[in-house]
Amino acid sequence: MCGIVGYTGVKPAAPILLEGLRRLEYRGYDSAGVCVGNDGALSVVKRAGKIKDLRAIVPKDLAGFWGIGHTRWATHGGVTDLNAHPHADCSGKITIAHNGIIENFAGLKEKLLSEDHLFLSETDSEVIAHLIESVYDGDLERAVKEALALLKGTYGIVVMHADEPGKVVGARNGSPLVLGIGEGEMFLASDVTAMMAYTKQVVYIEDGEVVTVQPSGFRTSDLHDNSITKKVEHIGWEIEEIEKQGFATYMEKEIFEQPEAILRAMRGRLDLEQATGHLGGLNLSSRELLNVERVKIVAAGTSFHAGIVGAYLLESIARIPATAELASEVRYRNPIVERGALHFVVSQSGETADTLYAMRELKRKGATVLGVCNVVGSTIARESDGGVYIHSGPEIAVASTKAFTSQMTVFHIFTLLMARMRNMSYEQGAQIAKELEAIPGYVSQILAEKEQIRALATKYSWAKDVLFLGRGINYPVALEGALKLKEISYIHAEGYSAAEIKHGPIARINERTPSVFLVPDDRLRDKVISNMKEVKARAGKVIAVCSQGDDEVASIADDTIQVPRVHEIVSPFVMVVPLQLFAYYCALELGRDVDQPRNLAKSVTVE
Ligand code: M6R
Repeated sequence: MCGIVGYTGVKPAAPILLEGLRRLEYRGYDSAGVCVGNDGALSVVKRAGKIKDLRAIVPKDLAGFWGIGHTRWATHGGVTDLNAHPHADCSGKITIAHNGIIENFAGLKEKLLSEDHLFLSETDSEVIAHLIESVYDGDLERAVKEALALLKGTYGIVVMHADEPGKVVGARNGSPLVLGIGEGEMFLASDVTAMMAYTKQVVYIEDGEVVTVQPSGFRTSDLHDNSITKKVEHIGWEIEEIEKQGFATYMEKEIFEQPEAILRAMRGRLDLEQATGHLGGLNLSSRELLNVERVKIVAAGTSFHAGIVGAYLLESIARIPATAELASEVRYRNPIVERGALHFVVSQSGETADTLYAMRELKRKGATVLGVCNVVGSTIARESDGGVYIHSGPEIAVASTKAFTSQMTVFHIFTLLMARMRNMSYEQGAQIAKELEAIPGYVSQILAEKEQIRALATKYSWAKDVLFLGRGINYPVALEGALKLKEISYIHAEGYSAAEIKHGPIARINERTPSVFLVPDDRLRDKVISNMKEVKARAGKVIAVCSQGDDEVASIADDTIQVPRVHEIVSPFVMVVPLQLFAYYCALELGRDVDQPRNLAKSVTVE
């Protein structure tokens, strides 16, 4: 969701800004623009559409060694060239790019209009440029601070002034901003992917901080101009990891990376000898873990689905009361923080606004909150009391796949750890640890069957409506299967507990509404088979994901995807991978933009 970049140095700025914006495409956007400074003049080029459209209109000879850029995900005002960023003040000497929402923009705009400022866009962001203009007296950093003090809302911004060559001022409140340190050059961006090709030395800017960069160095301070010393950190990812590496799309690459990603999430954490787990980053002693009386998991989207699996495991295996809840609901529910409760926030990006604000609300109330994140150095990872990185490597496709299976892996290991401290014997623990160790192999077996799943996707991609039905630990997997299909293929899909269809969804069943049933060989298999029969009795088509050799299921379903027969607690892995592939191939069949589906953003940094 909105991406900002800034550059100052010795190289031509335009290609670096455009490349940075291309790297941020995955965040989701609908328009883009750059501003480059040269000889006391600023040139802005912007338009609605993709980066390639912008690239086509940026003059090849656009000279200048400093500049800013932006990818916009529309909130205030339609997707038009004029609403695209950067926005300028009346004089055209100040330009800004903004990520976030200015909540009090209407009042500020009214006042600025009464002072004869001329607005060209419908955005909330443009007020920032005019506010800075209204207080500017030759010192851009000071003017930015004065203007920011008047804003309510969230922002990550980059600002430049024609009369202060080589200088870019950045600031953050609620929307991410990272500084990259190069040799005689500096970078600013919403995330590290935009600068990884040039530097691995970064500084994470925090809320309330302002950073001013020039080719020779940078200064960080707060809005009251107190200097702040920052820690320089090293990006652990390699540039190759953010390339497609021969795959047609990022989503395909990320689906196929899962065996390795799951292995990384387990490495050093699954102890086969002691039949337990080790999660050092939790920052909790054994005694503190033993005192945990309940676990509350908070997340959004796919991460929420992984959280439901986690809650199910903790209750059924470790016998610890556990719930998973949507972050967007927790924040405004005035949540109760109970003594003995341990909270987890789960977020691939570590920047999701709903999850971040829920975490802050819980912490404000005294909760211990642990993060389960992928992006190292992300806001949630930094602000939580401790946590676990899932180590999936960069996830670029909007549809989350490898993060989901890695998040589940972490909850499986945490459950094993907690269970072994409580009721679980060594023998039971050893059996579970062995099953967990086998997960990457099971996933590889399924990926090898991709052509069969592709054929099924081709067969069913005509559908306008699909139900995904599972029970127990695979109920959240049904939710995840439906989310995957709808977000990338735009086919309407809903996930339900298979038992729930009688309470409403069965009304939708006819020969044009296929149902995907998750039928592992577990305690609830017979119940799910009864639900399948109910659908068949109403002429509904049934695709069943079931265990290899399950002839009974095969005899009822129209089509089956047969997966390895595994322990119940491992079944979400073998159930979800076929659903990811099914969604992926349906979307391809329908000619969708799989990696950047319409209207969606990878990192949802506004509420
Ligand atoms: O980065 P997060 O895990 O916090 O993101 C949460 C959701 O926005 C995300 O899972 C979203 O639902 C994905 N597009 C699902 O594929």
